[in-house]
Amino acid sequence: MSSYIIESNKKKSRLPARLDFAQSATGLLLGLFMWVHMMLVGSIILGKEMFYNVAKTMELAFLSPDGQGYPILVFFAAATISTLFITHALLGVRKFPISWKQHRIFRDQMQMMKHEDTNLWYVQVITGFIMFFAGSVHLYTMMSNPAGIGPYMSADRIVSGGMWPLYLVLLICVELHAIIGLYRLCLKWGWFTGKNPAQARKKLKAWKKRLSVFFLSIGILALLVFIVIGIKHRDNVGEKYVKKSQAAEQVEAAAGSAEETQ
Ligand code: HEM
Repeated sequence: MSSYIIESNKKKSRLPARLDFAQSATGLLLGLFMWVHMMLVGSIILGKEMFYNVAKTMELAFLSPDGQGYPILVFFAAATISTLFITHALLGVRKFPISWKQHRIFRDQMQMMKHEDTNLWYVQVITGFIMFFAGSVHLYTMMSNPAGIGPYMSADRIVSGGMWPLYLVLLICVELHAIIGLYRLCLKWGWFTGKNPAQARKKLKAWKKRLSVFFLSIGILALLVFIVIGIKHRDNVGEKYVKKSQAAEQVEAAAGSAEETQ
């Protein structure tokens, strides 16, 4: 009987640790995904052709006979990320202050302690809450229209589809949330902390700042480039971008058929 009680207590006490581990693991995967995602989206800074090539490579266009790729892969990627995103959010909700009173007590303590890492936790709660809505809209768009990624189609969505305010809010939230999350993970699991924890914390903080500035700059610049393309393309919404080499072939073919008819 007593061994049964000890056994059941053991089981009970393991659950929070397992949930914590699952939250860390899903957070790590999402944080790393976001950095890769930002670099891929940021390719628009290098031009429309570059973004088109990146998007088509992600759709494995080099394997498809017509060179158009397999947009269904975007659907599967977005569905996988959505599953991680929802799991991570549900695990995070456990730690939210659940009433206004709890929230007030936490805010009062935060002001009293003035402890930077506690403030960072609060930033994560707020950004996580906003991302739950804004991120879901974006992921749903990617799943419902997986073939709609391209320099013109993305820019049209951002300008003519009115998505830019959502992307701006999402961008700020996701970058802050991801970098704070990865910083806290390093401290929690002792990654890159070395033998002197105080010095390591300082170094990690410096990296946190550098990486935030780097990814936020790429994100904001990419958004501005999309906005400029979208404004210029306002009168041709829906038109797809044609790769330079294909456009040249089309012009040649048109010139050839014009000569034939003369
Ligand atoms: C596999 C899943 C995802 C795919 C395929 C994807 C794809 C894209 C694409 C193509 C864009 C360019 C704009 C557009 O075409 O609408 C974009 C922008 C953006 N995405 Fe995602 N995304 C994914 C997941 C996420 C997640 C989980 C988040 C954050 C919660 C996110 C945050 C953003 C932000 C903030 C922008 C605007 C970035 C900027 O313009 O600088 N994305 N995404």
